[in-house]
Amino acid sequence: MILSSPATPSSAVVFGAGGAIGRAITARLLASGQFDLVRAGVRDKPEQVPAGAQGFVFDLADEASIVSALEGDQHQPRLVIVASGLLHDPLRGIAPEKSIRALDPAVMAELFAVNTIGPALIAKHCLARLPRDRRAAFAVLSARVGSIADNRLGGWHSYRASKAALNMLVRNFGIELARSHPLAIAAALHPGTVDSRLSAPFQRRVAPQRLFAPDEAAARLLAVIDRLTPADSGGLFSWDGARLPW
Ligand SMILES: NC(=O)c1ccc[n+]([C@@H]2O[C@H](COP(=O)([O-])OP(=O)(O)OC[C@H]3O[C@@H](n4cnc5c(N)ncnc54)[C@H](OP(=O)(O)O)[C@@H]3O)[C@@H](O)[C@H]2O)c1
Repeated sequence: MILSSPATPSSAVVFGAGGAIGRAITARLLASGQFDLVRAGVRDKPEQVPAGAQGFVFDLADEASIVSALEGDQHQPRLVIVASGLLHDPLRGIAPEKSIRALDPAVMAELFAVNTIGPALIAKHCLARLPRDRRAAFAVLSARVGSIADNRLGGWHSYRASKAALNMLVRNFGIELARSHPLAIAAALHPGTVDSRLSAPFQRRVAPQRLFAPDEAAARLLAVIDRLTPADSGGLFSWDGARLPW
């Protein structure tokens, strides 16, 4: 089990612990008592770090901040979760595109920076730090809308494309990781529709029973990670454990 206690001190590291799902995951990891240290990365508001976690500040657009976040860990990371992400930002005029006419290269670049490149940089600097001799996991929150095979509706071009590219990278990381860390797993996770700032403008058409509270989503996602095996590495998995098509 990923969450079972190992012989040497180990940490769980959450990048994006200030977000709704990231905060709930951090709280669950702390409550599990199964890590010697739980580290919680937030962008610029240290007050968002949940009590009991060791906080650090990072920005997905700043590779040096990711390196120093990981170098600051005296424990061996056994579970790394990237829970950050960007879909919209009304203050900066960022909204999911309904039409190709709405494509804006600056917005596309920003979504790729946050949803694809940032998580890839975290992988670049953390995968080699995972233990080689026991189970470990690198998991990123992706989205079902990033599945190319599952795309029936279109739209949300930049978000979909940035998550599709993320899913491809996770597939690549799984292949590469298997060579050096045969017991480790890289996985992309779809949390379902979760009540958060990110989903708030898009919740109207979601049936109440399909809108998960962050804590509910966190529990499900951690259970999914727990059940994954190295044979699953590189895949995209839904909150109920189902493997989704790329
Ligand atoms: N909620 C859903 O229904 C849903 C559905 C499918 C997939 N997801 C995915 O789940 C993940 C978490 O979403 P959420 O619902 O928890 O959203 P959220 O509450 O808006 O959290 C997103 C987090 O990402 C952080 N972030 C954004 N840009 C960053 C940057 N440049 N550097 C560091 N951190 C940055 C935000 O930090 P600030 O607070 O500083 O902005 C925030 O803490 C995302 O990847 C999202 O795509 C969510």
